[in-house]
Amino acid sequence: MSPAEVVRRLVPADLATLSALELAASSAPWSPDQLQAALDDSDTRVFGIEREACLIGHAVVVRLPFDAELQAILVAREARGQGAAGRLLAAVIEQAQGWRSERLLLEVRAGNAAALALYRGAGFGEDGRRRGYYPAGAAGQREDALLMSLPLA
Ligand SMILES: CC(C)(COP(=O)(O)OP(=O)(O)OC[C@H]1O[C@@H](n2cnc3c(N)ncnc32)[C@H](O)[C@@H]1OP(=O)(O)O)[C@@H](O)C(=O)NCCC(=O)NCCS
Repeated sequence: MSPAEVVRRLVPADLATLSALELAASSAPWSPDQLQAALDDSDTRVFGIEREACLIGHAVVVRLPFDAELQAILVAREARGQGAAGRLLAAVIEQAQGWRSERLLLEVRAGNAAALALYRGAGFGEDGRRRGYYPAGAAGQREDALLMSLPLA
């Protein structure tokens, strides 16, 4: 990580910057209310990665009774392919280990090559598939969800 790059927990004061990143970079942006709820919830952590003090990505992880779930990970389009998501995921894994979670869970579109490369590279395995789980996108067809997990215990 370059000296000007920082990963930190985001707080309610970061809401406006976080909302702007969601709107600019996500194909299905979280609303400001959803982001606010995540920032306020004691069982949720929102991590941000900043470059030159500018937010270029974030990840949301929730504590469940035994496991933790990665609910979102997003990197600004112009900052992709430079390891930012890998660094966010490392912070998420550290948080889940701190919670003593047994596994880190997530679900991902079966056709999301970048996300799948990220998760497989971090050691996630596939636990199952929900057929036609995601509504049709630009391609016009519903898409399967892959259920993945990383054992932590
Ligand atoms: C998925 C996403 C977060 C990855 O962010 P990123 O910062 O570009 O990822 P990184 O640079 O950390 O790369 C992580 C790994 O994925 C690989 N990768 C990145 N983009 C890729 C692509 N388009 N195709 C294949 N592999 C890719 C990298 O080579 C890297 O693997 P390595 O560690 O073996 O080199 C980013 O593409 C994004 O924000 N997508 C939109 C939101 C999204 O789909 N989130 C996931 C929802 S489950």
